[in-house]
Amino acid sequence: MAVMSSAEQTSPADRPTAGSAFVRACRGEPVTHTPVWFMRQAGRSLPEYRELRAGVRMLESCRRPDLVTEITLQPVRRHGVDAAILFSDIMVPLDAAGVDLDIVAGTGPVVAEPVRTLADLDRVRPLDPAAVSYVDQAVRLLTAELGATPLIGFAGAPFTLASYLVEGGPSRNHTQTKALMYGDPQLWHALLDRLADITLTFLQVQIAAGVSAVQLFDSWVGALSEADYREYVQPHSRKVLEGLADAGLPRIHFGVGTGLLLPAMAQAGADVVGVDWRTPLDQAAKQVPGHPVQGNLDPAVLFAPWEVVEREVRRVLAEGRTAPGHVFNLGHGVLPETDPTVLTRVVELVHTLSAR
Ligand code: CP3
Repeated sequence: MAVMSSAEQTSPADRPTAGSAFVRACRGEPVTHTPVWFMRQAGRSLPEYRELRAGVRMLESCRRPDLVTEITLQPVRRHGVDAAILFSDIMVPLDAAGVDLDIVAGTGPVVAEPVRTLADLDRVRPLDPAAVSYVDQAVRLLTAELGATPLIGFAGAPFTLASYLVEGGPSRNHTQTKALMYGDPQLWHALLDRLADITLTFLQVQIAAGVSAVQLFDSWVGALSEADYREYVQPHSRKVLEGLADAGLPRIHFGVGTGLLLPAMAQAGADVVGVDWRTPLDQAAKQVPGHPVQGNLDPAVLFAPWEVVEREVRRVLAEGRTAPGHVFNLGHGVLPETDPTVLTRVVELVHTLSAR
């Protein structure tokens, strides 16, 4: 199922965001300063977010283009980050595809009936782009507002989506997921193939509407060995990433605890490799030659005294300079209790230290 670019859609090279530090760093081109944004920048660390979300359920807020637009813009206004990320969630396309689920505050995604058998697989339907027309609308509103500031679209990768579907909710050890993966590889591959199609459609909708880059979150894939990653996951992530190749936009691929998976994740079709805080960026860069990297300040460091934050920002910038391109970010999402004024100071510091 193809999602066509609308007639007014310009090619990536002609967009107002093409000359931005963020897009240029993702392409490994010289930049005037190191671009910075934060995973989970739109969210609970901001009082203006909590105010807007009061009384509105998470999934409901994702379906309202007015709220999505405002929440996405909040961190751009407040922190002066170099890119916006669409306010949505990795579970949105599954909800739109008919899976009965909720996103529970303080817990995360909860799936009413976990997917564990061939019969359960029938409940995971293809995604009709019309079912996420609110995302199309929000992206159009946002790109008009943002002008030369890039908007990052995103989706969850097949493994991470499968882990929520199979477990029925968040999980520490992914036991049910691995039981299915090892116990019924045929069903596993059928499930991940469907999830890859849903993810691809969801990202194509965002691209057709005008996002400047996409990030594929495989947050929990670090639970796998490299051999299992290559056998059970990589073909499906590749279907998504290579399915987007023609769009010509930067594709960022990120997971947590993936120090040993970075080459395999790059080979899945990523342009930019996202790195968590455990792997120094210079070591990561050596593992994925030719690829720009994104990361990787430990989100917990933002709770330390400012001298420590400053020292760590300097270290991340120095290590990032060894890669063909560096997008400064945290090593995972902003923690809810983070003081937003520290995030603003980090943006200023990154810009000052990296100005050339
Ligand atoms: O980055 C951004 O600011 C854009 C918005 C965004 C959200 N979720 C909003 C959200 C993004 C990019 C995501 C991705 C996402 N969702 C991932 C991958 C990124 C990662 O952190 O690894 C995952 C694994 C999910 C699933 C999910 N949704 C979790 C684990 C949670 C948190 C549960 C909790 O409340 O502690 C959610 C809910 C969620 N998604 C919130 C936000 C702002 C909090 C809900 C609220 O404010 O009520």
